[in-house]
Amino acid sequence: MKKIALTGIKPTGTPHIGNYLGAIKPALELAKNYDARYFIADYHALNSIKDPKSLNELTYEIAATWLAFGLNTKEVLFYKQSDIPEIFELSVFLSAFTAKGLMNRAHAYKAVVAANKENNKDDDFNINMGLFTYPVLMAADILMFDTNVVPVGKDQKQHIEIAVDIAQAINYNYKKEILTIPEPLINQTMELIPGLDGRKMSKSYNNVISPFLPTKKLRKLVMKIKTNSQGIEEAKNPDECNVFALYKLFASKSEQNDLRKRYEAGGMGWGNAKQTLFEKLEEVFAPYRENYNTIINDKAEIDRMLREGALKAREISSKTMQRLRNSAGL
Ligand code: ADP
Ligand code: TRP
Repeated sequence: MKKIALTGIKPTGTPHIGNYLGAIKPALELAKNYDARYFIADYHALNSIKDPKSLNELTYEIAATWLAFGLNTKEVLFYKQSDIPEIFELSVFLSAFTAKGLMNRAHAYKAVVAANKENNKDDDFNINMGLFTYPVLMAADILMFDTNVVPVGKDQKQHIEIAVDIAQAINYNYKKEILTIPEPLINQTMELIPGLDGRKMSKSYNNVISPFLPTKKLRKLVMKIKTNSQGIEEAKNPDECNVFALYKLFASKSEQNDLRKRYEAGGMGWGNAKQTLFEKLEEVFAPYRENYNTIINDKAEIDRMLREGALKAREISSKTMQRLRNSAGL
């Protein structure tokens, strides 16, 4: 039997090429060899997105992004977290086995507390219980589906460790392997896709490139990538340049070498380097953009696929919950 891979993406912003290279593309590769279960973590997004229209639109955007890049719902179990009520029941179950101290030590929560301290705010400012217990809900997402591996970015490693801790506490208590112990699968090479300003591409930094922008907008954005102030004639160092760093992610070895030579020879302005990057991005993403536009314009079809996914997912989740209830004497 194939091993089970599961991951989720929160609909908290328009997907960018960092999400594509760091999460979606490797997950779709993995789906060739694993029994894959990929979902939209919309209840996780509710912690921060309170406007219903935005949450609804972003959910469709994430769904259409997965599908545009080739997720095949016949091969991958694809669903929306909020369609699976058993996940929330499991989350309550897991809470009974989760030490509060474990949550106090979670990086994401600690980062918000640290920011509050720095800004002379109360420690609890802007922290809802959803954020505090985020790792428990994420553990429920994972443990519900007998997951073996969880492909995620390195920032999520601690969350998987917490899921392991909780699962072990439950198996130990009932003296049987009720829950499968998951492990993280971290894609090191694609860890840090730089954004327009050279920092990690992230919606929190407002430095993202969406893969589905219309041609003109894409070009305009690429022209905004931050570079140094060297003049046209000067020789330039490609290894210290965001434009080249992004180009490398998409270009062949020989294309990379050609651009490298143009940097090192001098006589090439930043506008030219950016134009080369833009043309590459356009070449890579234009066919996906076409898929995306078709899919996002047929929301009824997206709904249908997610409903079908939810039905299949609930066959699994109801069994997991039954197993736990039986073991617990509930
Ligand atoms: P953001 O930083 O924009 O809020 P998320 O945290 O929602 O993005 O990321 C969703 C997924 O995309 C995660 O698995 C994460 O590892 C991956 N990812 C996000 N930004 C990048 C990046 N700049 N480079 C590589 N992977 C990224
Ligand atoms: N916490 C993940 C993130 O911020 C999203 C997520 C929610 C997830 N549940 C998950 C990822 C379960 C993997 C498995 O990116």
